[in-house]
Amino acid sequence: MDKMMEKIAGYGVVPVVVLEDAKDAKPLAEALIKGGLPCAEVTFRTAAAEESIRIMTETYKDMLVGAGTVLTADQAKRAVAAGAKFIVSPGFDAQTVDYCIENKIPVFPGAATPTEIMQIVKRGLSVVKFFPAEQSGGIAAIKAVAPVFPAVKFMPTGGIGIKNLKDYLSFDRIFCCGGSWMVKGDLIKAGEFEKIAQMTSEAVALAKEIRAGK
Ligand code: 3PG
Repeated sequence: MDKMMEKIAGYGVVPVVVLEDAKDAKPLAEALIKGGLPCAEVTFRTAAAEESIRIMTETYKDMLVGAGTVLTADQAKRAVAAGAKFIVSPGFDAQTVDYCIENKIPVFPGAATPTEIMQIVKRGLSVVKFFPAEQSGGIAAIKAVAPVFPAVKFMPTGGIGIKNLKDYLSFDRIFCCGGSWMVKGDLIKAGEFEKIAQMTSEAVALAKEIRAGK
């Protein structure tokens, strides 16, 4: 596993962020760093995403910022030009994945069925975003498909929070979990960055505890 993949796996949790206004990018990044999680998947579903990625990566050079909800190769190119270090997709788009592979950018395409996972494995990738996790059967579904794909690790996202993080992270085939619970839009809008930092540090502590087998 290369250094960046190791880092993402080591965090255990990747905050999935929806930023409506790029002015929130800096305080949000600050809150995540303060909470001990210098990492974010900034979703490419708002007009502010590109600029937010730029602000975060230029202000905090060591922060690991990726782009999420990337649906096309063009969006992937724009995200990378803005500073994104990894690309996450809700599903499998061949052009997006091929662009990332050709340019050595870590990419996590989404899948919820064996057929979709097969497309990803065929490209030589070893991490699959299992999405939407809870709605697609949760950890039980992952445990059912994992033996069929022994080289694959999973990044479940969708419906994960403090209450069920342990169900996922304690399974050794989980690469890390994606989730928005500590960076909810209403907290960002209300400027509740202290609360975000606090919830982030709770998530980090819990992930550490789970990974330590407690
Ligand atoms: C997303 O917004 O990409 C994921 O669905 C995040 O899921 P969550 O809001 O349930 O954590």
